[in-house]
Amino acid sequence: MGAHSLLFTVFFSVLLSSFTSNAHNITAILAAFPEYSVYNSYLSQTKLADEINSRQTLTCLVLSNGAMSALAAKHPLSVIKSALELLTLLDYYDAQKLHDISDGTTLSTTLYQTTGKADGNLGFVNITDLKGGKVGFGSAAPGSKLDSSYTKSVKQIPYNISVLEISAPIIAPGLLTAPAPSISDVNITGLLEKAGCKTFAALIVSSGVLKIYQSAVDKGLTVFAPSDEAFKAAGVPDLSKLTSAEVVTLLQYHAVASYTPIGSLKTSSAPISTLASNGAGKYSLKVTSAGDSVSLHTGVDSSRISGTVIDDTPLCIFTVDSILLPVELFGLPPSPAPAPVPVSSPSPTPAASPAPTPVVAAPSPEPLSPPAPPMSSPRGSPSDGPGPATSSDSTSTPSAAVDLKAPVILSAAFFFSLALVLSI
Ligand SMILES: *[C@@H]1O[C@H](CO)[C@@H](O)[C@H](O)[C@H]1NC(C)=O
Ligand SMILES: *[C@@H]1O[C@H](CO)[C@@H](O)[C@H](O)[C@H]1NC(C)=O
Ligand SMILES: *[C@@H]1O[C@H](CO)[C@@H](O)[C@H](O)[C@H]1NC(C)=O
Ligand SMILES: *[C@@H]1O[C@H](CO)[C@@H](O)[C@H](O)[C@H]1NC(C)=O
Repeated sequence: MGAHSLLFTVFFSVLLSSFTSNAHNITAILAAFPEYSVYNSYLSQTKLADEINSRQTLTCLVLSNGAMSALAAKHPLSVIKSALELLTLLDYYDAQKLHDISDGTTLSTTLYQTTGKADGNLGFVNITDLKGGKVGFGSAAPGSKLDSSYTKSVKQIPYNISVLEISAPIIAPGLLTAPAPSISDVNITGLLEKAGCKTFAALIVSSGVLKIYQSAVDKGLTVFAPSDEAFKAAGVPDLSKLTSAEVVTLLQYHAVASYTPIGSLKTSSAPISTLASNGAGKYSLKVTSAGDSVSLHTGVDSSRISGTVIDDTPLCIFTVDSILLPVELFGLPPSPAPAPVPVSSPSPTPAASPAPTPVVAAPSPEPLSPPAPPMSSPRGSPSDGPGPATSSDSTSTPSAAVDLKAPVILSAAFFFSLALVLSI
């Protein structure tokens, strides 16, 4: 059995590392250069560091402390964040490549373009090889000047991340004058209703949890809102059997007391505490990601993030495709017995599965349910979506049908690979 458990360990390490591969850590890279400490500090404050670490093939155009301080002094954090997003190119440029640009000029897309805040080509940067070996940078918007230029190379990890210093921020039209979002004006229930989460919105109002959310918002709040379909799904426990205190706890379990955008979720390895957490490890969530798909695991069930309702520091609201059921309230599903697979589907469980036991019912204390499969679905990309509210409307409807089958196929595939490993 020794060989088997070794294989087992190897199997899981490979599995886990393939979902948590952090090829680089921009905070650590810049920590070696005190001349960029202000820039580095803003990358952390805005959580852009996590976004950068969760991506591959990028170029960070950094500003020295003087240039960064000048930008930061005059603007709110939301504007600083947009400016830093525009300085994060989604392509790899080192000094050589800058000077080899064909025809001497090119446009590169940036993180800003992925946020939905940039109209047209406002999220693109113009890179132009000027005479005398000078390389200029500017907004790609028509009529923009190349106000910034390449100063020096800071650090390269080919071809994952390149850090280059430039002389000044790149300013897209309108970027600096965007008003800071006033979180007290955000109508959380209104946003939720528009995003297809009416049931959840009604629950947080009737239970009073909306007030708890509102009082937490200033210090940072992230909400995982189950879609209306999630409340109608087969196998959902009867919530009317819960006491009002339990309903409050359940709804608190759907929120985290910090601004945690998708990039931060992708890079979080430790379980995250929720507003319901009342002690070490209690009422926490585990996060896994595969490509652009991010899933939350409660120990009872798993839920996939299906859309971004709002991502504006300090508030993030995501839609999720099933209710998050904490172990502390719902317990682990009954262990052996031919427990019904949580899908009332007429099609039989695929034959490859050696037992019909649902994955989460495994008696092991660590619910190592398999992470979500690498989704090829284009909608698994909340951060790339066109942004607030409307984005999730269109995506939440088709999800219900697809996602109900996913766990079955997934468990089948999982047991099949386990069987393969064990039979070696
Ligand atoms: C680049 O990223 C890939 C994928 O994460 C990783 O396997 C590789 O080791 C990285 N390369 C370097 C030089 O760090
Ligand atoms: C990145 O590096 C910083 C500073 O060294 C460290 O505090 C942080 O935990 C690291 N992040 C990850 C995801 O490893
Ligand atoms: C970049 O800007 C320069 C100067 O405004 C312009 O001549 C050039 O055509 C632009 N490059 C691209 C690819 O649009
Ligand atoms: C929030 O939006 C909902 C639904 O659109 C609306 O009924 C409610 O009056 C709004 N609340 C505030 C304070 O504007």
